[in-house]
This record gives sequence, structure tokens and C-alpha cells, in this order.
Amino acid sequence: MRVNGDIKPTEPPLFDAELIRRYDVNGPRYTSYPTALQFRGDFDADAYLVCAQESNGDPIPTPLSLYMHIPFCATVCFYCACNKVVTRNRRHAAEYLHHLFLEMEMQARLFDADRTVEQLHLGGGTPTFLDADQLAQLMAQTRRLFHLAPDTEGEYAIEIDPRTLRPDSVAQLRQLGFNRVSLGVQDLDEDVQQAVNRIQPEEVTLSAVAAIRKEGFHSLAMDLIYGLPRQTPDSFARTLERIIAMRPDRLSVFNYAHLPHRFKTQQQIDESALPGAEDKLRILQLAITQLTAARYEYIGMDHFALPGDSLCQARRAGTLHRNFQGYSTRGNCDLIGLGMSSIGQIDNCYAQNARTLESYYALVSAGRLPVERGIVCSADDRLRRQVIMTLLCYFSLRPTDIERDWDVVFWDYFARERQRLEAFVTDGLLRVDDDLIEVLPRGRLLIRNICMAFDQYLRDSDQQQGFSKAL
Ligand SMILES: C[S@@+](CC[C@H](N)C(=O)[O-])C[C@H]1O[C@@H](n2cnc3c(N)ncnc32)[C@H](O)[C@@H]1O
Ligand code: SF4
Repeated sequence: MRVNGDIKPTEPPLFDAELIRRYDVNGPRYTSYPTALQFRGDFDADAYLVCAQESNGDPIPTPLSLYMHIPFCATVCFYCACNKVVTRNRRHAAEYLHHLFLEMEMQARLFDADRTVEQLHLGGGTPTFLDADQLAQLMAQTRRLFHLAPDTEGEYAIEIDPRTLRPDSVAQLRQLGFNRVSLGVQDLDEDVQQAVNRIQPEEVTLSAVAAIRKEGFHSLAMDLIYGLPRQTPDSFARTLERIIAMRPDRLSVFNYAHLPHRFKTQQQIDESALPGAEDKLRILQLAITQLTAARYEYIGMDHFALPGDSLCQARRAGTLHRNFQGYSTRGNCDLIGLGMSSIGQIDNCYAQNARTLESYYALVSAGRLPVERGIVCSADDRLRRQVIMTLLCYFSLRPTDIERDWDVVFWDYFARERQRLEAFVTDGLLRVDDDLIEVLPRGRLLIRNICMAFDQYLRDSDQQQGFSKAL
């Protein structure tokens, strides 16, 4: 997806509590379209093989992005909605790597050798659960099987839980080739940390940041969550002040998704300590005010970045994308998902690996690709994906851009959707003309509601129950 025409400088979202309350429905985060709810069990390893083969052989080889999932965490944070395995037993990591290496061999065989890896992301769980030797083995295996672009061109990222770092860990990660880091922080307030079972003194975060700066990483991102138990507008304002002083290049401020029926550990959260709806909105409002005042740009959907960061640059250049890691500058790549529960996006398919260790190990040991479900996107899926992702990345869309790429008359194809957009127009969230859809500052925080108008799978309300609230 590349966008033509002038891309306006980002305007901060305008906070309108009344509107936010009114549009407070469950909805997808659109890290893919169709979303994972549409993945089907009859998409198997054979279907994946076809996709992989079709993605090869282009005159200019499509570059690759690798996502590797390391599921282990030594302790559990009660709020966590990630796909993880809580254990202190280090032997589990060795067993996991054994299987991951087997999968990497199988996957690497599917893709032409001239396809360069431009992006690598180690996520979790907690990738830094692996010790120094294990991380070194993992990177050696990666380099043996894939061709990685040089450090100046590739984005090689790892999620770090600062509590897991040893004194020389950060230097070692840089030596292994990682050049981007994202730090899990969530909240610096001790009361909040206690309530979520994640004790992480500020000094631990500060010393991780100092080491990352010293070792010359290209970018530092941090994760915060608003809506956690015992958080108040005042306490979160103090957290933000201290985080802003650390000057991360990117900041994710996630809305706490409380779905205790789906994520069992969330049942340990005292619901009476969760901030009420009004306080939660105030926290969000002050986060936007403080970050904007500190020169962070709102990228969209929980993400902020400093103007010099590559996300802001990509936005200005019209090359910003959205995928499973949130926003990305490398949408031109095919994404290979490796490890338990990983999702890949190859050509016109999404494919997800087996979601438990047992099923993942069983398939890989039998010499089979561990693909469990997925979807081959139809032309309609791809067209709608382009519309939704363009709105999410740029807050605007030119129908002629879609008509150029697809053989459709935009407003004929989306006649019903145009009717659905009317309410947003009336409420001042959106401007809709024949030749431009523009999300106005009041609509920016509600961008996923707007995207939902183009989602053809959301017609029945049951589907929405699987998702969390927008804000
Ligand atoms: C895999 S973790 C990051 C790496 C490492 N495990 C850590 O916690 O430091 C990914 C991020 O997801 C976010 N997250 C997890 N559960 C969440 C929830 N229920 N609602 C919103 N964000 C959540 C947190 O901000 C967390 O840092
Ligand atoms: S937030 Fe990170 S460390 Fe905490 S349980 Fe989730 S994945 Fe593990």
C-alpha cells in the first residue's frame, strides 16, 4: 500500500468524552484484515505451501520479515493477554528452541534464497527469558538459514522485559545484531505494580534505557498500559512525566483489555480497584495532552512517536503499514511467523501456527509445518484491507487510489458503507466527499469504529463480543 497525494502533517486527536462514551463498543484492533476470528481450520500446511510458492519468483524478489515468538515468562503479570507460558524451568527454553530450529529449517526451504530479510522481531512472552547462549544460537541459526540485510538497512527488534536483564545483556543483544528494542514498562507507580504482580522499580527501567543508549541501538520503544488497577489520573500523569524524561522514540499506550473469561490470569485482578470509566477517559486525555506537549506525534491506535522516528517519517513518505506488531515501515515484506501461535502473512494468505506447546511440538517433531489455521484472502478482503489499513495509517483515503489498484468505482462498491459513514459525518468525526475521506481530529481516537464500517464480517453483533473496547 503506497499512498499518493499530499499527506497532511499529523494533528493531535481531539478528545471528546461525550462522543467517546457514545461510540464505546467492542471492536477489532485491525492488526490484520480479515481478523484472526475469520481464520479457518481447513487452511493447513498444504495451503500455506501454495502461498509460499506463489510468493517466490518475482523479478524483484519480495523481501522477508521474520516474527519469532518466545512464549516463556518467569512470572505472570495479572493483566497479560499475550500468548505465554509461565515457568521458571529453563529447560523448557532448550526444548522450545530445538523445535523452533526445526521449524525454521522447514520454513527457510520454502522461500527463494535471494529473498533478503529486512525485518526481524523477537516477541513473546519474553524473548529475554532465553539466556545469552540460547540467544546467540538463535541468531546463528537465523543467519545460517536466511540472508539478513546489513544493520544500516534492516530493522532487528527484540522485546525486553527490563527485569530479566543481566549487566551485559544489552551489549550482547547489540552484538548479536539487534538494533531496535521495545521495553515493557506498563506503569512506574509501585501501587499499580503491586496490583498487577509486576514489580519493576524505576531504576531497573532507567538502567535498561541507559544501556540501550550506550550500545547505539537505532530505536527505543516502550509499552505502557492505561486502565490498570489502582491507576488514577494523577498517578499516571507522574508515570508519563518520568517516561517522557527518558525520551523513548516510540511509545505505545495500550488500553487495558480486561477480558477475564478469556485470559484466566486477569481473574486475579481486583475489579473494584480498576479505574472507573470517567477516570479512565481522563487518564487517556491527559496522556494525549502530555505526550503532544512533549512533541510526540499520534501515529494512531495507541501509538505515539517522536518526529524523527521512522514511523513518523514513513507516515510522511506514504509508506506506513499496519500489521501484527502494530505499525510498521516494512509493509512490502512477506511476514513469516515462527514459533508457537505466530501469525504469518504471505502473499494473499494469513497463517497461524499451533497455539499450544504440545500441538506445536507434535507437528514439528513429525516433520510437518505447524500451521493450524489461516485464510486465503479474497479480492474483496484485500480491497477492504487496503481501505482499512490506509485509514488507520493516514486518517485519510482517496477513492482514486483504490480505483487505481482495483477495477471498481469506489462509491458504487461502497454504497452501503457510505450510508454507514453518515453518522460519523454528522457527529463531526469524518469528512466524506466523492474524492476524499478524511478522519477529523475528533474522529482519530475512534478510528477503529470508522474502520468497522468497512468490515464485512462484523455485521452480526456476536462477532463483536470477541473483541475489546476501543478506549
Ligand atoms: C509480550 S509483552 C512485552 C515483552 C515482555 N513480556 C514484557 O512484558 O516486558 C507485550 C505487551 O503487551 C501489552 N499487554 C499485555 N497484556 C495487555 C492487556 N491485557 N491489555 C493491553 N495491553 C496488554 C503490554 O504493554 C506488554 O508490554
Ligand atoms: S506482560 Fe510480558 S512478562 Fe508479563 S506475563 Fe505478559 S508477556 Fe509475560
